[in-house]
Amino acid sequence: MTIAILGAGKIGEALLAGLIYGGFDPADLMFTERYPTRAAQLTEQYGVRGVEVAEAGATADVIIVAVKPQDIDAVLADLRANVTGKTLVVSLCAGLPTALYERNLPDGTPVVRVMPNTPMLVGEAMSAISPGTHATDEHLQIVEDLLLTVGKVVRVPENQQDAVTALSGSGPAYFFFLVEAMIDAGILLGLPRTVAAELIIQSAVGSAKMLRESGEHPVALREAVTSPGGTTIAAIRELEVHGVRAAFLAAIEAAQLRSAELGKAHQ
Ligand SMILES: NC(=O)c1ccc[n+]([C@@H]2O[C@H](COP(=O)([O-])OP(=O)(O)OC[C@H]3O[C@@H](n4cnc5c(N)ncnc54)[C@H](OP(=O)(O)O)[C@@H]3O)[C@@H](O)[C@H]2O)c1
Repeated sequence: MTIAILGAGKIGEALLAGLIYGGFDPADLMFTERYPTRAAQLTEQYGVRGVEVAEAGATADVIIVAVKPQDIDAVLADLRANVTGKTLVVSLCAGLPTALYERNLPDGTPVVRVMPNTPMLVGEAMSAISPGTHATDEHLQIVEDLLLTVGKVVRVPENQQDAVTALSGSGPAYFFFLVEAMIDAGILLGLPRTVAAELIIQSAVGSAKMLRESGEHPVALREAVTSPGGTTIAAIRELEVHGVRAAFLAAIEAAQLRSAELGKAHQ
């Protein structure tokens, strides 16, 4: 199986690195890039060929589109004349529906839409995949196996992709925001910034590991550090008074609405 990644930017390069780390032969991989110097640097680093979009379309079994959504028209124009209806097209582009590819590519083209997130850069992505009209279970399995080299994968119907975008697509930003606010709190309490940052970042990593490895509900884990009359419950009361839970519900709902609004441009 030959795989071409169109657009080896942040996400495209992370996937390229993940595939090689996951055991794919660099000879079966190719990428496209606009800047020759960047292409040369990627070839030197990963031993993978840089090609034109037309060549990728004509020769790859799987095409992974990782350009910014605003660059999609040029890519589709180059692909249209070169792919057969058998090439599996995988879109990593936020907000672009499978129908856009199906309209612009040969009849019967199988398309799988993916919503990844930036922790793909450290092999810890959360990706949600959805089949287009012509994508079968076999196609989904291929995409799942590719993405498992850079993190976890769930399957969702395409109409849930706006919710996924709001939760895990934008999700890392909410955690970064929270960490930033907690470091500020450390500064308020008189700790040096480096110490506050170390305390909070390691607490975040440790808590994430406990969530994943214990399989416990977050409420149970929180209750375990919330002793009667203690410090944690004093802090929790303030979070509730300030409506933090309601703020998360409203914020994530706003992100879903915005994702749906952006997607309408491509319907
Ligand atoms: N970053 C995220 O948080 C995130 C999360 C989920 C999904 N995504 C999706 O992942 C995709 C890639 O995002 P990114 O952050 O990796 O963007 P990026 O770093 O800008 O990468 C896109 C790459 O594609 C190249 N490109 C554009 N048009 C091309 C063409 N016609 N032929 C060949 N290469 C072309 C760009 O080259 P130039 O440098 O010349 O522009 C750039 O290197 C986006 O569609 C985004 O919606 C991103």
